[in-house]
Amino acid sequence: MTAFFDRVAARYDRAFAPTAADTAADLAPPLVGRTGVALDLGCGTGRAFPHLRAAGLRVIGLDASRPMLLEAARRASAREVARVRADLYARWPLRDRSIDVLLAFHSVLAHPPGDPERAWRHVGDEMRRVARAGALVVVDLPEPSWAATYLRAVGPDRFLHEAGGVAIEAVIPAPSRVLAALGLPLSLGEGPLGARAIGEL
Ligand SMILES: C[S@@+](CC[C@H](N)C(=O)[O-])C[C@H]1O[C@@H](n2cnc3c(N)ncnc32)[C@H](O)[C@@H]1O
Repeated sequence: MTAFFDRVAARYDRAFAPTAADTAADLAPPLVGRTGVALDLGCGTGRAFPHLRAAGLRVIGLDASRPMLLEAARRASAREVARVRADLYARWPLRDRSIDVLLAFHSVLAHPPGDPERAWRHVGDEMRRVARAGALVVVDLPEPSWAATYLRAVGPDRFLHEAGGVAIEAVIPAPSRVLAALGLPLSLGEGPLGARAIGEL
């Protein structure tokens, strides 16, 4: 998984500029009134960091790609944002009940290893484990129609994202399927890539 993101890290922000430009307007509403620690899962280049900090939250960015985390260091120093290199689909190196806001922006959950349902269930379990009571969860869930516009369809729910001589497979089914596997009390609404799941734990 990381080979693809390692390779695209340096130009990720330019490639995703249209999405990034809307970030502030996109993130501000769900964060109103939230305090404490935000965990930005699959934080990438730290696109969300300034907005989370501006909302008064302390921020932890978690990502498996070292080059992405290095890019994220340009957005915020280690003193401002803690960066953690970890795999979403293994146990997260975070304490139980330590997080107030859990975020997964863009298609962070699109690359599950092995059985997708099992992988997403693990993410849901970890979210529940690290969340403090009442924690906010915001997860972007791309629609297959969004994926079909930007990626090459290679099978049912499967798309290929090719860039810079590397490719990664994305598993993008109907958002309700990912939501069911997460097993969290989230509601589906509209999101930048199709759907966004929001709720409190
Ligand atoms: C499409 S980018 C989104 C980055 C950022 N959230 C944003 O909105 O700009 C997906 C990010 O998820 C990370 N990622 C994907 N699978 C992961 C995994 N299994 N563990 C940790 N990070 C992962 C990638 O390294 C990449 O930085």
